[in-house]
Amino acid sequence: MKPIPWWQESVCYQIYLPSFCDGNGDGRGDFPGLLTRLDHLAALGVGAVWITPFYPSPLVDNGYDISNYCAVDPRFGDMGDFRRVVAGCHARGIRVIIDLVVNHVSSEHPWFQDAWNNPASPYRDYFIFSRQPNNWQSFFSGPAWTPEPDTGEFYYHKFAPQQVDLNWANPQVEREIHRVIDFWIAQGVDGFRFDVINFLTTDGVLADNPMENGEQRHAHDVNQPGIIRALQRLCRYVRQRGEFFLIGEIGSDDLEVIRRYQGADLMDVVFNFNLGSQKTFDASRLFAELTAMRERQPGPPTLFFSSHDMPRMISRFGESARDVDRARAVLALQLTAHGVPFIFQGEEFGMTDFVAQSLEQIVDVQGRTHYQTALEAGMTAEQALAVALEHSRDASRAPLAWEEGDASLRDDYRQLIALRNDTPALRHGHYTTLELTDACLWFSRATPDEQVWVAINFGAPVRNPWQHIEGEMLYGEDALWIGKNQFFIKRSCHGKAQ
Ligand code: NOJ
Repeated sequence: MKPIPWWQESVCYQIYLPSFCDGNGDGRGDFPGLLTRLDHLAALGVGAVWITPFYPSPLVDNGYDISNYCAVDPRFGDMGDFRRVVAGCHARGIRVIIDLVVNHVSSEHPWFQDAWNNPASPYRDYFIFSRQPNNWQSFFSGPAWTPEPDTGEFYYHKFAPQQVDLNWANPQVEREIHRVIDFWIAQGVDGFRFDVINFLTTDGVLADNPMENGEQRHAHDVNQPGIIRALQRLCRYVRQRGEFFLIGEIGSDDLEVIRRYQGADLMDVVFNFNLGSQKTFDASRLFAELTAMRERQPGPPTLFFSSHDMPRMISRFGESARDVDRARAVLALQLTAHGVPFIFQGEEFGMTDFVAQSLEQIVDVQGRTHYQTALEAGMTAEQALAVALEHSRDASRAPLAWEEGDASLRDDYRQLIALRNDTPALRHGHYTTLELTDACLWFSRATPDEQVWVAINFGAPVRNPWQHIEGEMLYGEDALWIGKNQFFIKRSCHGKAQ
């Protein structure tokens, strides 16, 4: 039998570097700070970290605007610090995944600087220039085209004007990215998280996007016809170099779109926004998505409910701004369901959302761009602020409150991760049952040697969660209770609950 790859057995942890841990007192997280927290990660029991961009960048979009792919921004440290973090992680059995943004580069990147200053530049075709821009809009709102003053042309950007899309129809671009991949493999990384990877412009400028209910539907600017082939080539290139974990961020919450990008010749996993980005808590929707993932996803799904792009689960899903019991129940689901869990930094302390009150407190480029677009559309400053607050992603990006952590929640994280790490059926077993009865989600997962039954009660406390589950054998003592009777598990080596 083929060995199970390490990433299917690991709990991953997202490090949003600018707010993780500040080592030099400048108010921004950095590699020296991260180095001091590796023991925390090891004690949690995580098997891999995903580190968000740390490359030289004007930080217009917090590093998702890279101006040099093969270096470390001095504000985060230097290459020596990066290597120390990799070595420190490896010494603790933690793999390191880096975030690669290959859909676009910063407008400060030398390739774009050359292309912008010189219409005859060999780098001109690394980007997409047009005399006649179409109606495509930026995902941060407003047009996706910015005029170039001297040439009468416009350049294309799916995000901010300072994030210029690369032209993936040009094979030279692909070769450049291969070199970047080789560079980081040589630094010892264990995998890549590819940013908005289904957004690559592989087929150039196509038809106008249709408008639906006053909003643009991104029909032709993403998931272009050539994308699967381009990603197959990218993934093959990496796999020829060894065993690396390839994570695709697919910009969609539609499972039918997301699933297309996972496979033996594509991404190992894709981010399941269909499950993770639900705005409010709804046990039946979670159950429906888990069922759809079980039936239709070609490989293990990812299990996450917070990230740097969305409000924190503890604030979003609860009945109060900090509903620790609901968070515990969702955590239990995240660490016992089938898939690869991704914990977002600070969740283990019960950190809540930062809530901006004024325009000055909105740092995120998406929030600020929406503010401008709303003003230009004729809204009042007050209305524009409301739009900006709705779209700003600052909520989950506040510096980690290391000293104020909730130790009881952190202990639950440790306990549940340890349980998963010690239980093969929780690491890679497939569902044999997956049901929702009232507000109780229950399932069983099995490997050839072991079976586990899990019941997670999202409703009012119950005395016996197994009352929902058929069969006498499931009645009895529970192995583990967390929170207000919210999580229960039984395991068996021979098909019977013990
Ligand atoms: C997805 C990243 O997660 C997000 O933070 C960023 O703004 C966009 N991609 C653009 O790179």
